[in-house]
Amino acid sequence: MKTNGPRIIAVSSGKGGVGKTNFVANLALYYAGMNKKVLIMDADLGLSNIDVILGITPRYNLKHVLNGSKTLKEIVAEGPMGIKIIPASSGVRELTRLTDTQRLKLLSELEHFDVPADVILIDTGAGISDNVLFFCSSAQETIVVVTPEPTSIADAYALIKVLSRDFGEKCFRILVNTARSEKEAFDTFRKLALVADRFLSLSIDYLGYLPFEPSVKDAIIAQKGYISIYPNGSFAKKIALVANKLLDDPVGEVKGGIQFFLKQALRVG
Ligand SMILES: Nc1ncnc2c1ncn2[C@@H]1O[C@H](COP(=O)(O)OP(=O)(O)OP(=O)(O)O)[C@@H](O)[C@H]1O
Ligand SMILES: [Mg+2]
Repeated sequence: MKTNGPRIIAVSSGKGGVGKTNFVANLALYYAGMNKKVLIMDADLGLSNIDVILGITPRYNLKHVLNGSKTLKEIVAEGPMGIKIIPASSGVRELTRLTDTQRLKLLSELEHFDVPADVILIDTGAGISDNVLFFCSSAQETIVVVTPEPTSIADAYALIKVLSRDFGEKCFRILVNTARSEKEAFDTFRKLALVADRFLSLSIDYLGYLPFEPSVKDAIIAQKGYISIYPNGSFAKKIALVANKLLDDPVGEVKGGIQFFLKQALRVG
């Protein structure tokens, strides 16, 4: 396995509101605490909120790059602990529907984009829009976040089905969020694994789980990131386990840096 270049990990879900952005924010804080250079791409182009969870107010976003007023490097926002963030844009819903001028602009910007990163986390929207599918299929690996609710499991299955059937993706790591116990988490994973195996002949990986933790909400209200406020809380301990498991066990090939990733996601070159 090639280990040079940043790890590029997409975090996605079938159903919305299952905890993707909160997970990405805390994973980023954990890796930053290990002195890793972390870049988050807010790829939820419709309803972005990684900036809100991390308590920053980016002045610029992708829209400013596309209209030519800022370079890609200039829109990168600085979060806590040196975390870098590419803010999404409320004005750009579908990357696949950029005009030729916008596409060329972004591509030429990519050539000069040299923000260093060890780990790039892509916080996608939920569901099976082109953006979600293109971001996930361009990343090195995709983490699908699911909760124990049957609707969330069904929607996760739908996302996995489209990514495997239409994009040839084979590696999926499942993170169960808001589990009330380890057993509930594993049962949730097993339900998904059974249907993936039976109907898609796909074997999916269990990445682990994050417990339901009422103070996650307090951290979100404080706009700080749970692990910064409660480093010894139950949620923080599980973030550490998941973060280390990801580091110990990379799946998929490193496909190149952010330039390569975004070109893939834009379906050019
Ligand atoms: N482990 C947890 N324990 C308790 N509450 C949680 C947990 N994880 C997330 N939440 C709650 O769920 C809400 C939604 O989380 P988040 O915004 O991260 O979801 P999302 O999947 O990114 O949503 P979207 O699909 O809209 O992007 C949070 O505001 C928080 O209150
Ligand atoms: Mg989100």
